[in-house]
Amino acid sequence: MNKKIMITGGAGFLGSHLCERLLDAGHDVLCVDNYFTGSKANIRHLLGNPFFEAMRHDVTFPLYVEVDEIYNLACPASPVHYQYDPVRTTKVSVHGAINMLGLAKRTGARILQASTSEVYGDPAVHPQREDYRGNVNPIGARACYDEGKRCAETLFFDYRRQHGLEIKVARIFNTFGPRMHPGDGRVVSNFIVQALKGEPISIYGDGNQTRSFCYVDDLIGGLIKLMATPDGFTGPVNLGNPVEISIGELAKRVIDLTGAKSELMVRPLPEDDPLQRCPDITLAKAELDWTPAVGLDQGLKATIAYFDELLRADA
Ligand SMILES: NC(=O)c1ccc[n+]([C@@H]2O[C@H](COP(=O)([O-])OP(=O)(O)OC[C@H]3O[C@@H](n4cnc5c(N)ncnc54)[C@H](O)[C@@H]3O)[C@@H](O)[C@H]2O)c1
Repeated sequence: MNKKIMITGGAGFLGSHLCERLLDAGHDVLCVDNYFTGSKANIRHLLGNPFFEAMRHDVTFPLYVEVDEIYNLACPASPVHYQYDPVRTTKVSVHGAINMLGLAKRTGARILQASTSEVYGDPAVHPQREDYRGNVNPIGARACYDEGKRCAETLFFDYRRQHGLEIKVARIFNTFGPRMHPGDGRVVSNFIVQALKGEPISIYGDGNQTRSFCYVDDLIGGLIKLMATPDGFTGPVNLGNPVEISIGELAKRVIDLTGAKSELMVRPLPEDDPLQRCPDITLAKAELDWTPAVGLDQGLKATIAYFDELLRADA
């Protein structure tokens, strides 16, 4: 069935892929973005589609439109971007959630929140299950993002309890792929850009800290499946790839796949950087029949090809 679907943060990395997939599925898509970290280049190829509409709007202000479903993705997502104006970051998460939940309440739309593995903070249990309450430093430099996202989850569940909204909460773990911001300082984009430029690859800490990386196509499939679950299922549900890799090993893979001559350069670990991060996706498997299918090397190749083209165009 053709639906009117709104995606906040639709011109960002994940949002632009989501717009594309929902258009391909025959829906009418409204992309709402203030272009803080997203860009028109990410959605340029969609602008000619009569079922696609792009609206410049800041979600910290109310919005009045008629929609059937809302994916709330608007929020700067990488430390360099969310720490640029931390007060604003909390506002985007909290005021943005209130405004979008208000819109869902008025229209009766189903609403999905792009939450994050950062709600677990520096986790004391491993891998992280949804019932783990987390270990977040509420006064640290990352708190604007972590606590903002935690408060947004609270608001989603209170709107459900108080107003009966149909909510879905996805806790997204590290995701990578084409259209990541080249300057966002996230590990995959950093390593690839440094390797393609032949610069030294900066490793924070000793490189033994582990992460798990989900390819964007898999993640988007998970969000769409979550939105389609019956009303009784709200989540929160972890979406991510449970295959762990150390940061040092990731750097070596990127060097191999790009054929770069880059050396590794060790830098100090940033404050509150978790040592391990890995999703337990048992719930997503059971409730969404979802499991990531794209391997790390396959995803890295597609991402390297994207950045290679981008850097050549800039040269
Ligand atoms: N990519 C990941 O690995 C990851 C992991 C966990 C959670 N998430 C969440 O997924 C969502 C999308 O992340 P992304 O990686 O695509 O980041 P992104 O920065 O590429 O996308 C965020 C988008 O939101 C827009 N935006 C920011 N503030 C806004 C505002 N006030 N009003 C309207 N639009 C605004 C930006 O311009 C951008 O287009 C975020 O909410 C993020 O917290 C992403």
